[in-house]
Amino acid sequence: METVDLRLENAKIPYRGSLVSGGVAIADGKLVAIRKGPLLPNADVKIDLRGMLLLPGVIDAHVHFRDPGLTWKEDFASGSMAAAAGGVTTVCDMPNCIPRTNSLKRFTEKVEIAGKKSYVDFALHAALPKTKEEGIKLMKTGAASFGEVFTYSEGDAAIRNFLDLGLTISVHAEDPRVLERFKSNGNGIEEFIRSRPREAEISEISRLLPLAENAHIHICHVTTSESVDLIRRGKKQKNKVTCEVTPHHLLLSLTHLRRLGPYAHVLPPLRSPADGSDLLRALRDGTIDIVSSDHAPHTAEEKEKGQANLFEAPPGVVGVETSLPLMLTLVRKGKLSLFRLIEAMCTSPAKIFGLRNESGVPKGTLEIGGDADLVVVDQKKKWKLKGKELHGKTKFTPFEGREVIGMPTMTFVRGKKVFEEGEIVGKRGYGKFIPRSS
Ligand code: DOR
Ligand code: ZN
Repeated sequence: METVDLRLENAKIPYRGSLVSGGVAIADGKLVAIRKGPLLPNADVKIDLRGMLLLPGVIDAHVHFRDPGLTWKEDFASGSMAAAAGGVTTVCDMPNCIPRTNSLKRFTEKVEIAGKKSYVDFALHAALPKTKEEGIKLMKTGAASFGEVFTYSEGDAAIRNFLDLGLTISVHAEDPRVLERFKSNGNGIEEFIRSRPREAEISEISRLLPLAENAHIHICHVTTSESVDLIRRGKKQKNKVTCEVTPHHLLLSLTHLRRLGPYAHVLPPLRSPADGSDLLRALRDGTIDIVSSDHAPHTAEEKEKGQANLFEAPPGVVGVETSLPLMLTLVRKGKLSLFRLIEAMCTSPAKIFGLRNESGVPKGTLEIGGDADLVVVDQKKKWKLKGKELHGKTKFTPFEGREVIGMPTMTFVRGKKVFEEGEIVGKRGYGKFIPRSS
């Protein structure tokens, strides 16, 4: 039998719908065997995973790596190191950097920047461009979607102009009209909470759903019980709508905002524990399609400005590195099945944003001929999340001190080990651009 490059053996792998002892073999960065039991092709390098879990690498469809233009907060090197350390093998980066990624030229420049710095594979969302012609060019060059569109700052006329192009539109759903009604001149946390009501999200989703009769609308980070009810109904009526949830909206609430102030300040804001439970239920039943981190780094100095007046702090929390352990903990506690986690964090993000390798095999699955994007997880390991141990530029997290069960111990991108036992072992610039291909 032929000798392959690498063999990962003695693992627990998801295989035809159940978790079995087995392993995979890799040649030229691709999976060439996925087997139950010990029988695998001979390999130059063999790694005994001693019963650890071997999963497809996570695809985080919503990160803000701030490159170019805001690189004191994060850049493609630091952000992708955090990704690798969190078991994330492909990220989809958002266009609200400086300049905004809203033209073919800027998109191509960003592919080049990320291509020189990234440790993991990457796709790019594009901001809505000025003209439809430019939109078509962005589509042809492989933009993952138009978005994240902030209708509260960009207006929504823009969306309507691009609906018929056929590319997914990802929307941050807070209705500008509602926000205008609740606008505040105050500065405290309570005043902030009042100024950012759940009605803004609910109203925006109600306005978006009819658009999804013809175009694919992806709703970023849903946060309320009513939002998932609306989307559930929309899906029953065969609307082309998908949506995501972040671990922070699932697991944190206003209590954290009140306690941590600017350090738990995100948009849309954290809600109630009851919303969190309903979001989890919706994630379980598939109403919520995927988990994304909305990794949105800001410096401590920038966050500190919000101590006196929350309105002065930039919104956003980091998450690309902590998503997988947080979600694995829900699996461990019996609140989510491992297979649903794999679908929501690996398979579905690739499907929704059309991410495939050059032979057309989808990312995010264990499939022969697919890229060997993999994460090894020590599923029993109990540990605490600590900001100072994170690999990105931000050294704080709203999950500080939280106990999690399940630790990513090795990450492989196209068969190359990029992370092992707390250390980045990959190469800057190894990551490849993954154009949307369907
Ligand atoms: O909290 C947020 N921060 N929400 C967003 O939608 C954008 C993000 C950012 O870019 O900082
Ligand atoms: Zn975002």
